[in-house]
Amino acid sequence: MVTVKINEKEWLDGVYEKICAKMLPTAERNRHKIPYTADNGVFDDQVKTNPCWWTNGFWGGILWQMYHATNNELYREMAEEVEDILDLCLMDHKGMDHDSGFRWLPTSVVNYRLTGNEKSYNRARLAADNMAGRYNPAGQFIRAWNDWGEGQRTGWAIIDCMMNLPLLYWAYDQIKDPRYLRIATDHANTAMKYFIRPDGSAKHIVEFNPETGEYVCSHGGQGYAHGSSWTRGQAWALYGFTLSYIHTKNPEYLACAKRIANYFCVNTPDSNLVPVDFRQPADCALEDSTAAAIAACGLLEIAKCVEGREQNIYHDAAVSLLYTLDTTRCDWDVNRDSIVQKCTAAFHDEKHEFPIIYGDYYFIEAIWKLTGHEIFIW
Ligand code: GLY
Repeated sequence: MVTVKINEKEWLDGVYEKICAKMLPTAERNRHKIPYTADNGVFDDQVKTNPCWWTNGFWGGILWQMYHATNNELYREMAEEVEDILDLCLMDHKGMDHDSGFRWLPTSVVNYRLTGNEKSYNRARLAADNMAGRYNPAGQFIRAWNDWGEGQRTGWAIIDCMMNLPLLYWAYDQIKDPRYLRIATDHANTAMKYFIRPDGSAKHIVEFNPETGEYVCSHGGQGYAHGSSWTRGQAWALYGFTLSYIHTKNPEYLACAKRIANYFCVNTPDSNLVPVDFRQPADCALEDSTAAAIAACGLLEIAKCVEGREQNIYHDAAVSLLYTLDTTRCDWDVNRDSIVQKCTAAFHDEKHEFPIIYGDYYFIEAIWKLTGHEIFIW
């Protein structure tokens, strides 16, 4: 990674204006939708095809972040509609999985925080209880995904789940029932022990024996190969352990987040553009901009948790990632949906480098952290 030298205030003022100018017509064009991706500058819609898709909270999160920054009621009304649609998922047990944090923190929890909406509180508590019900006491982890096809994944846990734990921290804050805190910290401790390698990189999937809790093996998952380092997984780990530190003040989580952050920064090429996997073949140029945006959010939060010179190091690394996204990977045409381009869901998928909604979400969240417009969601 190379640190960019810019006038930060001037740059941020410009990006803030660009986001506001783009998001209003984008929202107006996309009422009643929940987008995942965009094709030729037009958002798709998950409402009818996939109401339980794990990313369906991010559009609501964008709308709430925009509402918080601008007070425009259109954003609030649209965000509340997303919650109504997510009820289809909340009432579909097969559609519920470990990703309840990704779906109900940027929607119902934010709504409740901002407006005191009791219906939103009820939804978020139901989602938290469902997530807590996925806890495996023998292995002390939250079970990932559900079984599909012939796969029995009862003993699987994934690094992404670190980002869902704040839903349990939130539930604990509401009623001080220590079970929520215990499940979240057990999972974080298990992840720290079995997912994070000595060099600070993170595995994607770890399989445990669901009866005894013993470690069985790890799987390459959405990255290049077994033993590689899928960059979005690194970013989920970086931000996720930082969030567990913020909620618990356990210094081990911050130390872990810093090790992951250092690994992320050292392995990011001088272009500041993040590949899909830090260990993909040298002649493979595939990128995942979402990893850059998520990591930037985590780096900015780490910067708030450390002191002295360290603050500048993490802050400047985040700004470098975001500046590079803004100037080389963002589509600022107000007539086209989606901001962040060149996102990749998984290395071995057929399709790569397309817009994905959480790229936009985390980019806006990171910029809002810098401009002071953020509503803290996690
Ligand atoms: N949570 C799944 C992913 O990052 O693709």
